Amino acid sequence: MAEEKLYVSYNTVHKLIKKLAQQIKDSGFDPDVIVAIGSGGFIPARIIKTFINRPIYAVGISYYGIDHKHREHPTKIQWIDEVQVQLKGKKVLLIDEVDDTRATLAYCVGELLSYNPEEIAVLVLHNKLKQKDVEFPPEIKRYYPALEIEDMWIKYPWDADDIDEQERLEKEMFDRMSKEGRKLFV
Ligand code: G4P
Ligand code: MG
Repeated sequence: MAEEKLYVSYNTVHKLIKKLAQQIKDSGFDPDVIVAIGSGGFIPARIIKTFINRPIYAVGISYYGIDHKHREHPTKIQWIDEVQVQLKGKKVLLIDEVDDTRATLAYCVGELLSYNPEEIAVLVLHNKLKQKDVEFPPEIKRYYPALEIEDMWIKYPWDADDIDEQERLEKEMFDRMSKEGRKLFV
């Protein structure tokens, strides 16, 4: 993985989500419910609700259990029974912040498919272009990554200690890239 980090500000997250919401509408997908994978998907899900106003269900899936021990596979750390009934026959917009190895996302898709939704579309802010550990099942026909990027570490604003510094680092990164004529986005 490259040493370089991709800094992302809240402004950028908001703009990416707004653009995606329009893209989703233009593609003719009209979800009934939003499912956010916590914790990274929470803030993106809330922002998209401003543009696509649907109820949000939150699920927690992690490689780490509530005991903070790393597991072999992603496991549910929070799962709402209500989700089961609410998803049957529904069009679901599943949201997470990043598609990295795809392990968490694909696991979540598999679990949600067992509730027989009409369709699941997947939205992420960033898709890292790399060999994925798992592929999506064929039921996933709509996939909306806001940006496709090199395999690098992303610094999200909600992880920042100093939010002004986060914005400064994002700007510095863009300035450096434009000077070097480089593109991080593929
Ligand atoms: P994937 O299906 O979305 O590809 O997830 P994967 O299991 O590969 O990712 C494991 C954890 O690593 C996830 O956190 C994911 O959000 C996080 N992650 C992967 N790449 C990056 C990155 O570039 N930047 C940051 N900040 N996080 C990354 P998680 O276990 O779901 O925890 P949470 O942070 O969402 O609570
Ligand atoms: Mg996550």
